[in-house]
Amino acid sequence: MCGIVGIISKHDVVEKIVSGLEMLEYRGYDSAGVAVIDQDGVIDRVRAVGKLQNLKSALNDQPIKGFIGIGHTRWATHGKATVANSHPILSKTVCVVHNGIIENCKELKFELQKDGYQFLTDTDTEVVAHLLQQQLDRGKSPREAFRYMLATVSGTYAFAVLFESSPHTLFVARRRSPLVLGFGEDICVASDTTALSGLSQEVIYLDDNEYAEISLSSVEIFNGNYELIKKDKVPIPESTIHTGKGGYDYYMLKEIMEQGSTLRHTMQHLSIPDNLFDDVSRILILACGTSYYAGMTARYWFEEYLHIPTDVEIASEYRYRKAIVQPNTLVVVITQSGETIDTLEALDYVRSNYNCRVLAISNVKNSAVSRMADYILYTDTGTEVGVASTKTFTAQLAVLASMAVHNNEFLLRELRNMPLLIEEVLSMQAQIKSLASSIVDVNSVLFLGRSSLYPIALEGALKLKEVSYIHAEGFAAGEIKHGPIALIDDTVPVICLCPYDSMFEKMSSNIQVALARGKRMLILTDAEGATRLPGEITKLIVPSVHPVFSALLYVVPLQMLAYYTALMRGNDVDKPRNLAKSVTVE
Ligand code: G6P
Repeated sequence: MCGIVGIISKHDVVEKIVSGLEMLEYRGYDSAGVAVIDQDGVIDRVRAVGKLQNLKSALNDQPIKGFIGIGHTRWATHGKATVANSHPILSKTVCVVHNGIIENCKELKFELQKDGYQFLTDTDTEVVAHLLQQQLDRGKSPREAFRYMLATVSGTYAFAVLFESSPHTLFVARRRSPLVLGFGEDICVASDTTALSGLSQEVIYLDDNEYAEISLSSVEIFNGNYELIKKDKVPIPESTIHTGKGGYDYYMLKEIMEQGSTLRHTMQHLSIPDNLFDDVSRILILACGTSYYAGMTARYWFEEYLHIPTDVEIASEYRYRKAIVQPNTLVVVITQSGETIDTLEALDYVRSNYNCRVLAISNVKNSAVSRMADYILYTDTGTEVGVASTKTFTAQLAVLASMAVHNNEFLLRELRNMPLLIEEVLSMQAQIKSLASSIVDVNSVLFLGRSSLYPIALEGALKLKEVSYIHAEGFAAGEIKHGPIALIDDTVPVICLCPYDSMFEKMSSNIQVALARGKRMLILTDAEGATRLPGEITKLIVPSVHPVFSALLYVVPLQMLAYYTALMRGNDVDKPRNLAKSVTVE
């Protein structure tokens, strides 16, 4: 979380930094700030709590100018969202932006306080600023100070640092948080390439423990032993250049509506590695959040069509378990951003302890996961800007389904037909909007599904809570009688996913059981199912779909339902409170 930008130019950099931050707001929006070294060689900074718009207003009231500067958009870890805690964080003549967590900040703070450095924030980052200042005060050069700081802090970071005593050089470093250098008319650094589109034509991805000293005349990159290294520039990936909201009010709706074409695109560009499953006797899927639900769905497909036992694990839990990976396991890591620290750490655990092949599924070219995996499959959807994942989820499902049925021409044809069916659902926007108005005022919603629609019930609930802030839970329909049924009364809407498939009869019984306890029910079904379900229940009739792929279809109306509910509640759908799209802290 948190986005950072740094720019060195022959012109004023403030506006460009703010534009870069705009592209990184998905990483956090608790506060934002910018700092430059002005023409007198002094650091000036402006910060504001809340979304970037507030920073823009603050910069209007208090303009700053400089040819070198850094910016930050924050997702708070240490300390509340206040101006004092907003980055850039200053110590006398040094200014820092940071993404990550300094784990030994307490010990360092204690030492620095003993040495007379006064702390004005609750952030972990302040120790970095004071540590650098302490070294300068002891007569060290910015380079020596920066290297000392890197050797002293533990935890995760992407840093960009301004030193008044080195006014033409930006110092940057990364460990576990992403950082990319951009080259064009200006020299830039940012948490990801989207912030560089329009500014840079070529990029260099920094790897863990590398750091760089950047000026307009030279870019020096060092490895963890401070040896100068050479890294090649690569063209900025096209998929990171996103083209705005395309006439929609929110990215989330645009991204929901794009799903027919993003699915086609993903499947057209997909190439499953030859012999991927040779000698594989087990599959282990690691992921978080929505990606985890994609993994849960894939388990049904992998076991049924590949006949390979499959485990799906929440990455943040997995890495702290003494988990055992059996020989001949194929590890499948699913991460939209390719940067989720929990997922990368879980993968690191597997890599460090076991010898197995790793396949990653990501939407971001050259993200960290792509450098840790043996194979990478991209969900080719273009950048997803809305914080709540939509089009990347269906694309993940398409990739996973393609893996599962890669040898089955009939099912592959059915899968290729999914974009058309999804487009039919997308045309039901008005109907779904009116269903949203029936849940807009409730306190709690339950989602029920069976088989591969169970993870979709979980995802439907996650989408609704993420953007509408209504409490929502997804359950395996057969499980409600073991506890969750106690939650059902006349005030709680129950949304059931019930196509006419092999689970229909069981699902119908679960519906009856729920209906006996509450009166607010919405059933998503197909034409055949609708004729067999009680007439008085509200239904959304979606196209009938091959049962293997119903998950891909049924999630779409749930995304729309979440979107419209959130919209009616007046929420900022693209930037839901407290969330961030790329989660680089544990
Ligand atoms: C965050 C996002 C979720 C996402 C999860 C995993 O929590 O808000 O939408 O599903 O991270 O992200 P990843 O990039 O690894 O798929």
